[in-house]
Amino acid sequence: MATKLAAIIVLAAFLAGPAACEGASICFNGWMRLPTFNPRLCARGPRVNRWQRGASPAGLGLSYGYYDNRRSTSYCPRAEGIVRGAVREAVAANPGIGAGLIRLFFHDCFVRGCDASVLLTTTNSKNSDTEREGPPNKNSLRGFEVIDAAKAAIEAACPSRVSCADIVAFSARDASYFLSNRRINVPMPGGRYDGRESFANETDQLPGPFSNVTELQASFAAKGLTFNEMVTLSGAHTIGRASCRFFSSRFPEMEPAFAAKLRAQCNGNDNTNVNQDDVTPDVLDKQYYRNVIDRKVLFTSDAVLNSMETMTQVIENANRAGTWERKFEKAMKNMGKIGIKTRGDQGTEIRKVCSRVNN
Ligand code: HEM
Ligand SMILES: *[C@@H]1O[C@H](CO)[C@@H](O)[C@H](O)[C@H]1NC(C)=O
Ligand SMILES: *[C@@H]1O[C@H](CO)[C@@H](O)[C@H](O)[C@H]1NC(C)=O
Repeated sequence: MATKLAAIIVLAAFLAGPAACEGASICFNGWMRLPTFNPRLCARGPRVNRWQRGASPAGLGLSYGYYDNRRSTSYCPRAEGIVRGAVREAVAANPGIGAGLIRLFFHDCFVRGCDASVLLTTTNSKNSDTEREGPPNKNSLRGFEVIDAAKAAIEAACPSRVSCADIVAFSARDASYFLSNRRINVPMPGGRYDGRESFANETDQLPGPFSNVTELQASFAAKGLTFNEMVTLSGAHTIGRASCRFFSSRFPEMEPAFAAKLRAQCNGNDNTNVNQDDVTPDVLDKQYYRNVIDRKVLFTSDAVLNSMETMTQVIENANRAGTWERKFEKAMKNMGKIGIKTRGDQGTEIRKVCSRVNN
């Protein structure tokens, strides 16, 4: 019986396509529609390399107003203002790009730390696909052009001083600010340096839409973030969009009217995108937690927050004004400390162009 079940699972994994399991140790379980977790595809726990020891508690090497210090070689007083202007303009034209920028920060920090590895199309290591080609990112991440525009303007003002990693972090802060109607102001220090390597296979460290609470907790813990921070940061799914392929298997579990509306929007096409928050789709607010309670969320990873361990937090976030917003500010700041590289670390640089390493 057990072997039969295992055989079915392996077959399902094969049918899900090669990206789901390249090699024995890569594990994209949370990104696949599997009947259950398959340990055969993923024998080891989350891998931790030397850049991924989790959040450095003090954010050592980071400081507020990092580019404002006249006596530092990183002096570039217009840097943060340039980013804010670029993000303001982009969000005004299309709020979805703001959502993209917040997600870009998450996907950068969870893979090799907040080092802008998510932006690279070329790296230090030859013949390897970069993170942008990984299943969680490909044809999904957006906002790159905002980062590039800010970087170009900053390079014109003060060449080779401001890292792409900091531009990603500032952009996420500013997108949070504008999309929340200025209610969320993430304190975001600067001083991150850019990495020179990026591997598609490492994006398996990102939790997936089919992950359960245990898996979500494990993936956040592997980056030094707490269970509560996981619940708090999931609230970012109050903005932006998602592809039908990640939730069309869940229609029967959703609130019926919500499911019917989504079914009509998806119209049988797994590549269609829909709004994540049906109520206030473009506002970064606590509506997500009301949606969790009402079974009006898209992914398994959202719906599981209706569990015993998370319910108290979900109800408090949904009901008490300002509670979630303050927790979100702290959690975003902490996410910005994951695996950071700073001045003097080996294999780092200030990139000239965010999509490629220097020379
Ligand atoms: C808890 C585990 C998480 C899972 C499993 C998850 C998964 C996903 C998935 C599958 C999508 C849809 C992508 C697509 O269809 O193209 C998405 C979108 C999004 N996620 Fe998450 N996510 C998680 C946590 C987070 C966190 C921590 C943040 C940021 C703080 C975040 C921010 C976003 C945003 C803003 C979008 C919309 C992006 C856009 O419209 O371009 N997510 N997420
Ligand atoms: C990921 O890909 C890179 C480049 O192709 C390779 O060197 C590395 O060994 C891979 N990592 C794992 C865990 O398979
Ligand atoms: C979640 O998945 C893990 C494997 O990662 C499994 O061992 C566990 O039983 C599942 N937990 C729940 C609550 O379903």
